[in-house]
Amino acid sequence: MTFLFNSDAERGAIFREVLARELPDLSFEIDPANVDVETVRYMITWLVPPDLGAYRNLELLFSIGAGIDQFKAASLPAEVKIVRMVEGGIVRMMQEYVTLAVLALHRNWPVYLDQQRQQRWRAIEQPRAQQRRVGVLGLGMLGQAVLERLKPFGFPLSGWSRSPRAIDEVTTHHGADGLNRLLETTDILICLLPLTNETRGLLNAELFAKLPQGAALVQTGRGPQLDQAALLAALDSGHLSGAVLDVTAPEPLPTDHPLWRHPRVLITPHVASVTQPESAALAVAENIKRHRAGLDPVGLVDRSRGY
Ligand code: NDP
Ligand code: OXD
Repeated sequence: MTFLFNSDAERGAIFREVLARELPDLSFEIDPANVDVETVRYMITWLVPPDLGAYRNLELLFSIGAGIDQFKAASLPAEVKIVRMVEGGIVRMMQEYVTLAVLALHRNWPVYLDQQRQQRWRAIEQPRAQQRRVGVLGLGMLGQAVLERLKPFGFPLSGWSRSPRAIDEVTTHHGADGLNRLLETTDILICLLPLTNETRGLLNAELFAKLPQGAALVQTGRGPQLDQAALLAALDSGHLSGAVLDVTAPEPLPTDHPLWRHPRVLITPHVASVTQPESAALAVAENIKRHRAGLDPVGLVDRSRGY
């Protein structure tokens, strides 16, 4: 029985060590060329190998990241369980990134960076955190963790999900009406949604128009959720005051794309959160044990929902 690690050798070495300790009966392979495909029961990868159909005994297909949109799940064999990454390292990094982005927008960092380039010394009137409302789209593993980290600052917090969710000290909304209510009361909007048919293109002109004048965006979901032209228009008209983008479409943006040079935009190269191999390997080992015990793995993807 083989576990195929279809990713970089550095993280693979850590997975090899952890899995040897936790599941000693499992053989571990990092190079698909060396593996007898019939023996592979478990695979972790970012992209699905083109010859996935040859792995006829595959039971669990793990994403090395939290997102699984890159798998195009509908085209995968129905009997293979798809598992997204649920592990503490990815959570902590996203908490850091979103906190940094929210504080940067709250404290007018894009404007001050622009002023510095112009050697301009000018203070901007600073609202208190209690006057800056933060709304999170997506109340899953990452959305909830981010809200938890933002609580001590005193921002009024709200969140939106598909199904109803109750979270202490957070006003929660769900469904289409719920989205409108969240947008009306959000000054800094954070997107932590998976990419699905429903969320593709969600961050568009219509949505921006529902945000209060001067609102800002933190996009840490997936590039195709954002209509980049609509964002530029909303920034240029002054309706939106700033944006922090960790994901774009395509990645990277073409060198002449106006978002690169926009004075109110901060761009990072899809680094908000990265799977941490030590904790991820333990989470994967635990999931294989659950699967062998007849339990669903943690992070099992519901193909009908697309996440
Ligand atoms: P989860 O699956 O745990 O949570 C997803 C959340 O989104 C749930 O609350 C779900 O609602 C909500 N949701 C999904 N579809 C809709 C919809 N149509 N309307 C309203 N709410 C919806 O995902 P994670 O928190 O683990 O990750 C979220 C995403 O973050 C990933 O899919 C990935 O795209 C992105 N990501 C980005 C990274 C980066 O570095 N930039 C790193 C890691 C992840 P419900 O609660 O009702 O199910
Ligand atoms: C992820 C990512 O999904 O890095 O984990 O985007």
